[in-house]
Amino acid sequence: MLTDNHGRKINYLRLAVTDKCNLRCFYCMPEDGLNWLSRRELMSYEEMLHSCALLVKMGVEKIRITGGEPFVRKDIMQLLTSLSQLDGLKELSLTTNGVLTAPHVPELKKIGIRSVNLSLDTLDANRFFTITRRDEFANVMAALEALLSHGIEVKINAVVMDGKNTQDIIPLVEMTKDMPVSVRFIEEMPFNGDGHLYTGLQWDYVRILDEIKSKYPQIQKLPDPLYSTSYNYHIPGHQGSVGIIAAYSRTFCGTCNRIRITPQGELKTCLYDDGGLNIRDLMRNGSSDHELQGALLNAFGNRAKDGWEAESKRVLHPGIHESMATIGG
Ligand code: 5AD
Ligand code: SF4
Repeated sequence: MLTDNHGRKINYLRLAVTDKCNLRCFYCMPEDGLNWLSRRELMSYEEMLHSCALLVKMGVEKIRITGGEPFVRKDIMQLLTSLSQLDGLKELSLTTNGVLTAPHVPELKKIGIRSVNLSLDTLDANRFFTITRRDEFANVMAALEALLSHGIEVKINAVVMDGKNTQDIIPLVEMTKDMPVSVRFIEEMPFNGDGHLYTGLQWDYVRILDEIKSKYPQIQKLPDPLYSTSYNYHIPGHQGSVGIIAAYSRTFCGTCNRIRITPQGELKTCLYDDGGLNIRDLMRNGSSDHELQGALLNAFGNRAKDGWEAESKRVLHPGIHESMATIGG
């Protein structure tokens, strides 16, 4: 079993395959995008597969593909297919904004993807445009339909933003009535590609729950699965469920089982840390698997105890100026 210096099990890798995105969600990146990584800076699929295979040998059981937007990267289905065949990997899943997803759903089903996280912050096409700066609402809804009709489990991720989409909280909860989806509300985090514009958190998990309870006082707490990042709830009579992710309040660090690899191969042992180990560079400099494994174990042995400690130790981006698109959410 792979553990860190605080005795926490590490068995879940989030791999960001690109920093590029076809939306411009204002809480993630500026309107004109980011300084996109060059092709050479990105890890190749071979490098990704190699690092994943090694990490699975070391004890990783679940891999989630994120971005940016995974379907923006060319031939992403090739990588997904190869990963789905990795010996020892128990679960492969992905997070997508849904814009390009629908046509790939049959293939996702075929290679054994059981669950997909879909980012969707509003059910109103106009507000969707205001938040994402792109007119793609219909395509996202088509992706939702395709996933459900293929029997793939869907978790909807909605970032709650003061003055932008709090009127969507109740309609999003309402979706769980007739659809077997899990709608998860996420506290907004300071990873918007322009850290100084982050004005602090107005809607924390307590306020979000209060808002839901005002319409659904009968809401029931569900037991939270081990390593769950969300507080989970169910409304009697509804098919789906509701979750709240305290991503800013960081209430779940004590059981964190996750590591991240950025599109340029930086290992992050916490969402809030600076990285510090670049596995792409190690591979390109000819490190053996044994050396790679040693470097990874060293990083896992020096993990911050929680997101607050990781944030306080930042050197490269002390004010947090990164975008979630370069971290992988
Ligand atoms: N705060 C909270 N969530 C964010 N995401 C992107 N940027 C932020 C932010 N600043 C979410 C997206 C997506 C997931 C990958 O991360 O909505 O669901
Ligand atoms: Fe793209 Fe996701 Fe960032 Fe929105 S939050 S711009 S969909 S990467």
